[in-house]
Amino acid sequence: MPKCLIVGASRGIGREFVAQYLADGWEVHATARKESDCAELRDSGASAYLADVADEDALSRLAGDLPGDFDLIVHNAGVGTQEREGPIDDVDPADWERVMRINALGPILSARRLKGKLKAPGGTFAVLSSLMGSIGDNGFGGYWTYRMSKAAANMAVKNMAIAFLEDGIGVVALHPGHVQTDMGGSGAPVKPADSVSGMRSVIRDVRPGQDALFRDYQGKSLSW
Ligand SMILES: NC(=O)c1ccc[n+]([C@@H]2O[C@H](COP(=O)([O-])OP(=O)(O)OC[C@H]3O[C@@H](n4cnc5c(N)ncnc54)[C@H](OP(=O)(O)O)[C@@H]3O)[C@@H](O)[C@H]2O)c1
Repeated sequence: MPKCLIVGASRGIGREFVAQYLADGWEVHATARKESDCAELRDSGASAYLADVADEDALSRLAGDLPGDFDLIVHNAGVGTQEREGPIDDVDPADWERVMRINALGPILSARRLKGKLKAPGGTFAVLSSLMGSIGDNGFGGYWTYRMSKAAANMAVKNMAIAFLEDGIGVVALHPGHVQTDMGGSGAPVKPADSVSGMRSVIRDVRPGQDALFRDYQGKSLSW
């Protein structure tokens, strides 16, 4: 039975990954930040663990509690900001540091603590990025903090692909589309079920030790 870990699975896209892999017969392990969310995940059929991706000690404890030989780890955890199309003066340094820690440092902490749990060769480490992190696609500016955090996460993904090459681990940065979640808002055009089933197809095509990919949920290759 294939085995996956979804990091940041309390709600939204992460929860949908859990539901779809369970429905497909996978052994699913998942993390959340609250015990009540872990209880819900367990009720749905997953194994659940407490972990905050900004806390490396928590990720070390998680690694100690997990089995090995995972086919897939999805690093989904991420946060948005209140700041939107605003001018440069809207950037709040304290919020910038908080968001960078979760969105940019989080994938690095999680990769370095959890990579040893992946099949090598053959495992895949997937990171929820965003088209907002694409420098090539940035045509209208704004969203300084969120854009910078996801651009930095993309660079981490590229570095991971190089660092994990000799272990035969594939790495991919995923843009889920603009999805109906707490972060994306109720008016977003893409349903979580469609986003996640599309990203699962993309993940299926990641090959061990391949160069880093940056793909949207429909499989389109994106500009870094
Ligand atoms: N929705 C969109 O349109 C969209 C577009 C592009 C990219 N994305 C990316 O897709 C991912 C999932 O987004 P979503 O729409 O599902 O967002 P969401 O509904 O706001 O859910 C975010 C998830 O991340 C978890 N999380 C936040 N900070 C964390 C931390 N420090 N440690 C562990 N978990 C943490 C949250 O847990 P708690 O419940 O404990 O807060 C929650 O499970 C994010 O990385 C996001 O940036 C989303």
